Order: sequence, then C-alpha cells, then structure tokens
Amino acid sequence: MTPSRRTAATPPILLARTLPTPILATPMLSTRTLAALTLTTLTLITSPPSHAQTHLIAVTAGGAVGVRADALPDPLYPTLGQPGLDVQHYDVRLTVPSPGTPDLRSDTTLTVRADRDLNDVRLDYSGPRVLNVTWNGQPVPYRHTTGQDTTPDKLIVQRALPAGRDARIRVTAAGPAGGVPDPTLNITLGWQSVPATPTQPGANFTFSEPDGTHSLIPCNDHPSDPATFTTTLTVPRGVTAVASGSRLADRAHLNGTHSVTFTLTNPVPTYALGIGVGTLDTAARPAVETAGQRVTLTDYFPTSVPDTIRAPYARTGDILITLSGWFGPYPFGTYGSVVVTPDLPALETATLSTMPVRSSRERVIVHEIAHQWFGNAVPLASWSDTWLNEGFATYAELLWTQAQGQDAAPLLRGWRDRLRPGTRPLTATTRAQMFDATAYARGALALHALRTQVGDDAFRTFLHTYTRTRAGQPTRPQDLLHLTRTVLGPQAADLLNTWITQPDLP
Ligand code: TRP
Ligand code: ZN
Repeated sequence: MTPSRRTAATPPILLARTLPTPILATPMLSTRTLAALTLTTLTLITSPPSHAQTHLIAVTAGGAVGVRADALPDPLYPTLGQPGLDVQHYDVRLTVPSPGTPDLRSDTTLTVRADRDLNDVRLDYSGPRVLNVTWNGQPVPYRHTTGQDTTPDKLIVQRALPAGRDARIRVTAAGPAGGVPDPTLNITLGWQSVPATPTQPGANFTFSEPDGTHSLIPCNDHPSDPATFTTTLTVPRGVTAVASGSRLADRAHLNGTHSVTFTLTNPVPTYALGIGVGTLDTAARPAVETAGQRVTLTDYFPTSVPDTIRAPYARTGDILITLSGWFGPYPFGTYGSVVVTPDLPALETATLSTMPVRSSRERVIVHEIAHQWFGNAVPLASWSDTWLNEGFATYAELLWTQAQGQDAAPLLRGWRDRLRPGTRPLTATTRAQMFDATAYARGALALHALRTQVGDDAFRTFLHTYTRTRAGQPTRPQDLLHLTRTVLGPQAADLLNTWITQPDLP
C-alpha cells in the first residue's frame, strides 16, 4: 500500500469526528496536518512504534500530502505530471523587465519529495530557455526536451530521488515566454502579454487552466499535486505587480525596479497560480470576517478601466460572507480580482481571480469566488472531473441569487435550456467536454437535486464537511459520493450517482 493510498483510505468523516473540535476549528491548521495527525494516531494505536518507526511514519504522512497514487497518468492529459513526485512548495522569482512584452527572467526553487523511488525528476516545462539547474545547491545535469512533436515538453533533472527524500531544485531561465496553444479549448494558455497601445500601457498576466503554468515555470503541472507558493515579482518602478497570496514586502532597488513578494500558505493546484503586472489602480476594501476569520480584500484595475466595470466588485465582501455561510470558512486570508483587458474566460486564480473586462459582472464574480473553495482549496484528482469545480461554482450563483431575495427559477430554467441540445454523464471523456454546458449546468442541477431531497440544513452541513475534509486533497467524484452517503445517507448518494452516471438528464 502506498502512503497516499493510506491517507486517501482514511474515511474523511471519521477523521472529522475523531479529532477534537478545537483542532478542526483552527483555520491555520491545514488538512495536511490533520492527515498527518490521523495517520500517526492510527498507526500508534495499532502498533506502538520504536523511534525509527515514528520517524518513518512522519515521513510517509508528510509524503502523502497533495498527491494521489491513482491520479496519473491523467486520462485527458496523459503527459502531464510525474507519478510519485510531490512538489511541496514553489518559490517563484520573476523579473518582468518591460511589461506588455513576453520578456521574462525566472528563478524558481521547487521543494520536492518522492513518494516512491524516482530515477530522475521530470518537470513539465515549455518556458524561457533554461540557464542553470541546481540540486540542493550543487549543479546537476539536465535535459530540456522541447519543440519535438512526439515528446512532451519536460525539464528532466538527471538525479535519482529515493522514496521519502526531499530535494530543492533551483532552475533559472530567461527569454520570451509564449503561451501553450490549446487548439481544443481554442485558447493560448499560460503567460499572457498585452502590448502597450497609445492609450494603454503594456500588461502581463497568467491564464493557465488547465496546463499553462508550465509555460512560465518548471512544475508538476497537474491538480493532483497542489503546493504552496511564494512569488516575488520584480518590475519597473510605477508598475504594479500582484500574485496569489498575501502581500509580504515591497522593496525598491537602485536600478529603478522594485520587488513585491506574495505568499500562499495553503496548497493549491499549479494552474491556480495568478499573476498580474501592469499600470493598475489598487482598490483596498474593508476587510470582512467570515466564520470568525479576517479576510483582507483588494482589487486591481487597469487605469483605463471605467467605473461602470469596477462597480460590481464592491459586492465582493458580501459575496464572501454569503458563500462562507454555505461552504464553510473562506480557505485563504485574502481575496480580490485583477481585471484584464483581453477577451478570455474568467479564471479563479487563487486569492486573486483573473477577471476580463467583459466578464466583470456580479454572477461571474460570485462564480470565481466559489472556486476558491471548489478547485483551489479542494483540488481535482483528474481533468475528467472538472464538473466538481464548475458544478459547485455555478450552483453558487443560485445560492447568491436566493440570498439577494431573488427568484432562482430563471437560473434553473436557464441551466436546463443549456442542456437541451444534449448532455452526457458528468465525467468528461474528451478535452472539449471539460468546460462544456454539462460540466457547468448539469453539475449545478445535480447539486440542486441533492439539496431539494435533503433540505437546506443537511445540505449546508454536507458542504461544510466536504470543504473541511477535502482541503488540500485531490478529490474524485467517489470521494464526494462517499461523503454524501456518510453525511446524507444512501438515498442521497443514489440520487447523486444517477446524476453523475446516467446518460440522459435525470
Ligand atoms: N474555470 C474557468 C471558470 O471559471 C473557466 C476556464 C478555465 C476555461 N480555463 C478554460 C474555459 C479554458 C474555457 C477554456 O469558469
Ligand atoms: Zn468556473
């Protein structure tokens, strides 16, 4: 049995009920710690360990964080990620010398751990040219496979990593960062460059779901390996730089640049790393308390963006409060939106949603906030399960509508109408299905059916339990079904299962 299977096999509800409430009520204590505690406790009960065993337990418990032995290869993106590799932290340092151009310098340190013996470390990477790679501070041989049609873009670090061992891999690179073109999704993912115009200075930002982050930095680019991030951005004076996480420091340099650091202490999937660089207005809003926890709020708008576009973001605090009532405590310490000008979908980048001008509407704002729980805090185990993200985020639009005292019937009708041309079981079998109407609308209708059957109080308890027990744990529909059965009973689980598997709309 692999370490990650042991952790995954711990019944989430058992975990929730066996731990003393004060521990669960402490927001700073991550699921990682809970998993480690539970695993250690269970092992201690079954076999009193020697010191050597205790050490081993600590290592395997830690090694199980954020990876699932059953997640790779991904059915839709079989080349992404390395089975057995667990990246715990990314320390990302980016220099953007001239915003609006693709020019970039990067210095990324990955703290990695192996949960099985690895002959080498194979990171996803199609970014700027690699200059140097070190392993625990020492030079290490590497190979960057890129530009060949048949081989995926990988940075192969040629050193073995035995099971249970850590290493710090540091990669420096420089050059133009393009995106990763995705013909099926009809979008170029990754580092975006918005050239300056006579009326607007240049800007850059990330748009990475599903696999654009490896156009920027070497990474284990799959949601089944979420990690924490520290991001330091160095940009010219007068340019604003923002990233996922809480802002730590802003240091001015003598050469006319400044560096800003952001830290994200809860693990999130790689695609959720958000970065925005440009001439931006900063709108600090009053902090809110959600479930006794303080959340700071800041939005960023390109100076050219008019007030009508900015107005709906003033509701952000109210939305956070309403949604945390349904979902449980907001998972991070900060939130905001960075508004961008190109016509792209909105994206739920962690603590800092990336909001195109054209998507600057209340419903989309609600949707991206909901993803902070569903997708960012609770990550996917497989790209075929995007409905777990999109269904919950879409359903949040209804919860917000009702909280405003408005009728939800038009939304429900709208979702059914979107599915009239045809639907499918919820698991996506092609990349084109990942963000289709079924993922969004059928996912939301499934949750509504569940709520209608069990009632609001049970539904709320169910949502709270899901976000609390699955945070940081790559999640599959089976995990949701297991929880449904445990918290809501077998009838509810059967209902949800019908919505997941039946070809036609139930
Ligand atoms: N997750 C995004 C949203 O909230 C949508 C999205 C991300 C998307 N990447 C995409 C849509 C690529 C189409 C193509 O809803
Ligand atoms: Zn979404």
